Amino acid sequence: MGVNLSGRSFLKLLDFSPAEIEYLIDLSADFKRLKRAGVPHRHLEGKNIVLLFEKTSTRTRCSFEVAGFDLGMGVTYLDPASSQMGNKESIEDTARVLGRMYDGIEYRGFDQAIVEELAANAGVPVWNGLTTEFHPTQMIADMLTVREKFGRLAGLKLTFFGDARNNVANSLMVVCAKLGMDFCACGPVENMPAAELVETCRAIAAQTGGSVTLTDSVDEGAAGANVLYTDIWVSMGEPEELWAERIRLLSPYQVSSSVMEKAAADAIFMHCLPSFHDTRTTIGAEIAEKFGISEMEVTDEVFESSRSVVFDEAENRMHSIKAVMYATLK
Ligand code: CP
Ligand code: NVA
Repeated sequence: MGVNLSGRSFLKLLDFSPAEIEYLIDLSADFKRLKRAGVPHRHLEGKNIVLLFEKTSTRTRCSFEVAGFDLGMGVTYLDPASSQMGNKESIEDTARVLGRMYDGIEYRGFDQAIVEELAANAGVPVWNGLTTEFHPTQMIADMLTVREKFGRLAGLKLTFFGDARNNVANSLMVVCAKLGMDFCACGPVENMPAAELVETCRAIAAQTGGSVTLTDSVDEGAAGANVLYTDIWVSMGEPEELWAERIRLLSPYQVSSSVMEKAAADAIFMHCLPSFHDTRTTIGAEIAEKFGISEMEVTDEVFESSRSVVFDEAENRMHSIKAVMYATLK
């Protein structure tokens, strides 16, 4: 039987089967081909979506907007300060109001429980554009990118270096387990994913032929890795005071050329972005001044190297978010 995601919300990948995830990756590739060929695809003309952002964004917001416009939809953006949600109106009431006006709702913000509550009450599909726990739309783009580079997914080793308990690392662990890949979290013991999620993913991997490894050894993490992935050391919503501790804990896990050399010969570098690979950002410059480091989770050399596929990943956010919206709204 074919995959049908019509009417479903997209909150976390644990809710989706491997076949459903693969369908979304295939659909993303189809939309990418149409976009590249200049073939119009206004399949959702007449529908309207709303984008709720309680945290800042470049890629996710622009992807939802461009994908919405390409599909022929009306798009409303609500920034962190311009809705009543949370302050004057409960999540449940907000969901019931927006569900009367819109065909789909995107939410970026804090607890996963918020996006789950929105979905439980909206009566229309809700899409998770990043919570403290998960970043599922990023995963469809990332897996499309990996598949474009290697022509396959199952059996590849993907190692995440650094803050392995953040939303991106959690989501990578889930998607790798679902797709039969070997996921490795490489970082200090303090920053490992929650034990319960690790167990859940190991149980999934046992069914798909994948595996989940946790290690504090860079040599072990890099050995044989096809994909080396990292993310910023302090995520949105975390206090600034964490920088000093994270720099101390995570510096040994910076992805540098010497780490890339320990990996598989055809290894690629990935990062969800934004990235602190130089001092050309306000925060990057402040950190350089305060802590004397000019690169953080990845060196500029690796970021700018031919192994780096970060801008393919960024482009693929738009094609994959389009696929998620189309699949759930059609
Ligand atoms: N990768 C990602 O989600 O980027 P933004 O924070 O810019 O949306
Ligand atoms: N872990 C990062 C991801 C940004 C796309 C954050 O939550 O800030």
